[in-house]
Order: sequence, then structure tokens, then C-alpha cells
Amino acid sequence: MRKPMVAGNWKMNKTSAQGVLFVQELSQSILPYEHVEKVICPPYLAIPAISALLKDQPIGVGVQDVYSAPSGAFTGEVSVDMVKEFCQYVIIGHSERRALFGETDKGVNQKVQAALAGGLTTIICAGETLAENEAGQTQAVVSRQVTQALIGVESSSMAKVVIAYEPVWAIGTGKAASAEGANRVIKECIRDIVAGLYNPSVADELRILYGGSVNGANAEEFFSQKDIDGALVGGASLKTPDFTAIVAAASRRN
Ligand code: PGA
Repeated sequence: MRKPMVAGNWKMNKTSAQGVLFVQELSQSILPYEHVEKVICPPYLAIPAISALLKDQPIGVGVQDVYSAPSGAFTGEVSVDMVKEFCQYVIIGHSERRALFGETDKGVNQKVQAALAGGLTTIICAGETLAENEAGQTQAVVSRQVTQALIGVESSSMAKVVIAYEPVWAIGTGKAASAEGANRVIKECIRDIVAGLYNPSVADELRILYGGSVNGANAEEFFSQKDIDGALVGGASLKTPDFTAIVAAASRRN
């Protein structure tokens, strides 16, 4: 039985002070849903204060990216060791990192390896662009991103891996994928690929999230699908009622 997960990616929103105020309210609202693994990923500078606030609460804190090298002359970057002081989770390979900041499959793989070596639960994002979708390349793109991200990852580390299928055309557009369509990609291009790379039991235990315009109204439909174990949420993670409705929907998944 895979524990449902709902992770909020705040992206570049909220100052530290705003984040603290928000989490004081949000945590009260989502804490009752014990059956769901709840994670928030604020911007770096808000993390120390928020992780202190959540110290004794079952709400995980994650970063939205991390660099693969342990330390050194990498201006502007943050290492796994720095993250570990405050966080248990990391998002790697988000499509905004890939599209806007030149992240490659190889770079994603290096970050995944570093994050897992540091013991962080690693949420790896994969998803096709609109052009790739329209050209019928969804399967090829998602399978490739997943396969490349997992190069060198031992099956013993796979319990710390979560994969998020996020079609780029559905992110921040209000135009979510259909639940059946998302489930098909997740099954065929992620779970079956992982079964081939490792074995069926690793694939069976792997949590796979859907992301892209998930909200309180459509979450239930995604979570009714067999292979969708939760959501990676952008816009709706910035509002307590919306994020709570998504967590509540995940708690009804069984
Ligand atoms: P969205 O973003 O929920 O605002 O579409 C999802 C994501 O980027 O993870």
C-alpha cells in the first residue's frame, strides 16, 4: 500500500515572514489528515524559519532544487549538506528548471544521485511540452527523462524516490490533463519503465504523483486512478482552502 503524498511547490512566492504566517494557518488545517504525507517546498530563504516552526509536526519541508557538488566555487548554488540541516525532501528536474535554467537530463541525474546519497527524499519531475505532446512524443520523452534521471540509482535507494508526472502544458495553465490520460502515462511511461529498470516490486512500491493545475475540485478524480499516488501542487499550494482540499482528497484514496 503506497502512502499518498501531497507536496506543495511554492516556486518563487512568499517572503520568509509571509511564509511563516501562512504555515501557521495551513498547518492547523492539514494536520488532521494523518494518512497523507504532506510536504511544503518554500523558497530557500523562508526554509529555516518554516522548518523551525514545523519541527515537531508531521509536515515535511523540502527545497525546490539543489546542486550536485558538495561544496566549492559554485556561485549562487546550495548543496545537499546545507539543505539537510533543515529539510527532508527535494524537488529535482522541475520543468521550469529545465526550460528556464538549462537543466539537462545529465544534470538532473547528478542532482538525484547527490540528493539520495544525502538521504533526502527526492521528487523527480518528468513531463512533455505541448509541442512534444502534439507530435506524439509523450511516451518517448517521459520514458527518457525517467530512465536518465535514475542512472546509477541503486534499487535500495528507490524507497526514497518519488516521481512526479507533470505535463508542461498543464502547469500553471488551469488546463489539467485528464485523469485517465495522466494515469496512462504514469503507468506506461513511469511505473512500467521502473519495473524494467529494477523489478516489479520496486515499481509497485514507487509513489508517482501527478502535477499540473491540480486544485481542490479536480484532485479527487486524479486520486481515484490506480497509479496516481498524490500530487505535486503549484498555484493551489499557496492557498490554505485549496491545498487542504487536495490533502483531504488524498486522504480518501485507498
Ligand atoms: P501548478 O504547478 O499546480 O500551478 O500547475 C504545478 C507544478 O509546477 O509543480
